[in-house]
Amino acid sequence: MEFVNLTIDNKSVKVEKGTSILKAARSVGIDIPTLCYMSLGDMNIENKPGGCRICVVEVEGRRNLAPACCTDAHTDMVIKTNTMRVLNARRTVLELILSDHPADCLICAKSGNCELQTMAHKLGVREIHYKGEMSTYKEDFSPSIIRDMDKCIMCRRCEMMCNEVQTVGALWGVNRGFQAVVSPAFEMDLEKSTCTYCGQCVAVCPTGALTEVDHTNQVIRALADPSKTVVVQTAPAVRAALGEEFGLKPGTLVTGKLAAALRRLGFNFVFDTDFAADLTIMEEGTE
Ligand code: SF4
Ligand code: SF4
Ligand code: FES
Repeated sequence: MEFVNLTIDNKSVKVEKGTSILKAARSVGIDIPTLCYMSLGDMNIENKPGGCRICVVEVEGRRNLAPACCTDAHTDMVIKTNTMRVLNARRTVLELILSDHPADCLICAKSGNCELQTMAHKLGVREIHYKGEMSTYKEDFSPSIIRDMDKCIMCRRCEMMCNEVQTVGALWGVNRGFQAVVSPAFEMDLEKSTCTYCGQCVAVCPTGALTEVDHTNQVIRALADPSKTVVVQTAPAVRAALGEEFGLKPGTLVTGKLAAALRRLGFNFVFDTDFAADLTIMEEGTE
């Protein structure tokens, strides 16, 4: 195995040849902010289109700044991750992204859980100095997923998930320049595409561009209506996923807790989809 030795923020770092500057920095506890980059470590899949440029760093002897997520570390490199030039560049890049982003954080489904919002806070952006044309895409409502491409930052994580992980191929980057967007083929609605509503693209979208359809308020209204018998039927995966959401070890089953909690919320009947889900899987396997 071949190694390279370099210096990052005055720290000596030794990493395997072919390691990115980002990973080299993180291996010694140096944080470089990222937006489009995403690593699915256990699957050995990385999304690094180098599109957002939030991760730029200064490399001694190099004229322009280097995107840390998609630039390999080399022997004798001297890297600075937090100079004024770097910090100003990151802030400028973020302001440019925000200059074509709707400012509706207060009512956005992703508010409080949005990587773009967190980054603006982290980089101290309090003003947007750039004004220009804004995207005006039509919102795409499918039975499970809402696409609001005005909020897309072209990180292409969804495209990677849909193609490389789920191998469905419903989402692709189309068009160029300001018109570039991630979309189903021929910019058709998601409902008409090959999308299976697995939701993996929604899970990795850093902004409110992809969100799930939320029926929470209808459920609350139904539970509050004494004339209604309210029945709930849960999908099998929820029994494990819910535990993780509440901080339990991934894979922990919370079947009993789930049923008890739903009854306490006011549901009259709680059904589990075990048998029907097994049938579906058998049918899918046959197909
Ligand atoms: S929900 Fe549809 S578009 Fe999203 S990853 Fe799954 S198949 Fe692809
Ligand atoms: S829809 Fe979301 S995940 Fe996909 S490219 Fe846009 S911001 Fe990234
Ligand atoms: S995180 Fe490196 S270019 Fe986006």
